[in-house]
Amino acid sequence: MSAPAKTQPRCLVLGGKGFIGSHLVDALLREGFPVTVFDRANIPALNDAATAARVKWIDGDFTSEADVARALEGCDICFHLVSTTLPQSSNADPVFDIETNVAGTARLLNHAVRLGVKKVVFVSSGGTVYGIPRNVPISEDHPTNPICSYGITKLAIEKYLHLYLTLHGLDYTVLRLANPFGERQRIQAAQGAVAVFMGKVLRGEKIEIWGDGSVVRDYIYIGDAVAAMVKAADYRGEERVFNIGSGKGVSLNEILDGIEQVTGRKATRQYTAARAFDVPVSVLALDRARSELGWKPQTSFTDGLHKLMTWMQSQPQ
Ligand SMILES: NC(=O)c1ccc[n+]([C@@H]2O[C@H](COP(=O)([O-])OP(=O)(O)OC[C@H]3O[C@@H](n4cnc5c(N)ncnc54)[C@H](O)[C@@H]3O)[C@@H](O)[C@H]2O)c1
Repeated sequence: MSAPAKTQPRCLVLGGKGFIGSHLVDALLREGFPVTVFDRANIPALNDAATAARVKWIDGDFTSEADVARALEGCDICFHLVSTTLPQSSNADPVFDIETNVAGTARLLNHAVRLGVKKVVFVSSGGTVYGIPRNVPISEDHPTNPICSYGITKLAIEKYLHLYLTLHGLDYTVLRLANPFGERQRIQAAQGAVAVFMGKVLRGEKIEIWGDGSVVRDYIYIGDAVAAMVKAADYRGEERVFNIGSGKGVSLNEILDGIEQVTGRKATRQYTAARAFDVPVSVLALDRARSELGWKPQTSFTDGLHKLMTWMQSQPQ
């Protein structure tokens, strides 16, 4: 008699209609995982129709305990990609940030324990949890002193995950993600300099740069970012927190240079006042993810720009 087919654990993607979530859904389906997506009803899904047909969709709000409990039913691995705030706007209302993201996640973890969820993979923020770096590249052991509420709530959630492991044995992995870019990134979004700049260059619009354009970030192609998330689902080692980025620093001016090269068009640059919450440089060290997860970024910045441009040019105007 042949052995029964191995059943893959069911993955729940909270925020699965979003930029990162939609790519994660594609990657999980390619690996043969059954996938449930939890997201708001009034948000359009970014996946194509063939992919969408293979997913179980659950509409709800992360701030509703009943909705979150319903989404977790029957799921084995929970990818937590909901954030109700953005780095740049979170300081305007820290109470909202805490009440929705931190309290919401504590409620999520209570139900995950009750329902026997096996693992939580949390997408944290490599660009904000460390604050102003003492040295780059930044390793996971670097001090954490965020200068925005978003970074503080991400860090608080990381700590609650550790508490729930200690108290209840709930397994977890944290991925401190740098700045992902690529297909499906919302051009109008306030987050994501690469896509915003690419969109403006393709439309021939002026680009406003905060500061002198020397602010350096670590930009990672979205396909590489979600590959790390899939690896995290299977990780059984001792480490809990991983930086996920390209490991390379690119300034705002260098993004524009790269876009000019890839598109063959000139960027019209306008320099304005710097923003207080922008750390001057952020580049992540990837040694831990390389050795423990067996993961490394595969796509160069230029190749990623090509993919983003091709996708943007395929979109209806
Ligand atoms: N994009 C980045 O630069 C970046 C970098 C590091 C970490 N992250 C984190 O990765 C995660 C995903 O980011 P993204 O760029 O895909 O964002 P996104 O806005 O494209 O996706 C987030 C999804 O969460 C959903 N969501 C938000 N509030 C919700 C609520 N109250 N109830 C139900 N669903 C809700 C949204 O509808 C959306 O589909 C977030 O946690 C974000 O903080 C993003």
